[in-house]
Amino acid sequence: MREKIVAGNWKMNTSVTEGVQLTREILAGATQIPEGVHAIISPPYTHLFPIAQLLEGQNRIALAAQNCAEESKGAYTGEVSAGMIASVPCSYVILGHSERRTYYGETDQTLWNKLVQALENNLRPIFCVGELLQEREEDQHFQVVASQLKHVIGALEPADFEKIIIAYEPVWAIGTGKTATSDQAQEMHAFIRSFLAGIFGEATEKTPILYGGSCNPSNAKELFSQPDIDGGLIGGASLKANDFLAVAKAFE
Ligand code: PGA
Repeated sequence: MREKIVAGNWKMNTSVTEGVQLTREILAGATQIPEGVHAIISPPYTHLFPIAQLLEGQNRIALAAQNCAEESKGAYTGEVSAGMIASVPCSYVILGHSERRTYYGETDQTLWNKLVQALENNLRPIFCVGELLQEREEDQHFQVVASQLKHVIGALEPADFEKIIIAYEPVWAIGTGKTATSDQAQEMHAFIRSFLAGIFGEATEKTPILYGGSCNPSNAKELFSQPDIDGGLIGGASLKANDFLAVAKAFE
């Protein structure tokens, strides 16, 4: 049995006070999260410490950062290292989100450096891949995703690969209300699993592959019922406690 994961990516939303309140609401409803489903929330850096304090002493909700620095420490004004994130404490980090690739020019090399930092500091990476609309229309989507995986994830040692969570997020579905159909998502998830199996073999059977892109309470059940979809990376719908919990409940 593979892990089931629902991760909320808050992006650059909420003040600290609002984020703490949202966490309280999620915690209050955490008993609704089906047994065995790992729920993760990923607030902005500024919120991590107060939220980690709120989460202390329970194991239903875990914490992720949305990014980390390529370097371990030093004169890098404005950056936050993986070690700092781990010291919050925080257990996961999202890497390679398409917004970071597009707006901040993150390349395979950048992502490799970040992945190394994350793993050295025992942060479990949620590594995002996904194609642009034009790439799908030109039937390049498998090639694009294969390339995003090959040059970064494909270079890991097998022991590190076992810590990786993959998130497939077709860029055309992010924040657009346009979800991939469950068939489109399943097709890509199966492709990702078999592509990685070509490098890492059987270990891939245990790799959680999450779907992201306008996943919400009304489509989560259908998506999560697909054999290779092991959960979701949820943007907009993770900003309301009830919606986030409803997505987690889709596993019931
Ligand atoms: P969305 O975002 O659910 O708002 O489409 C998903 C993501 O970018 O992780």
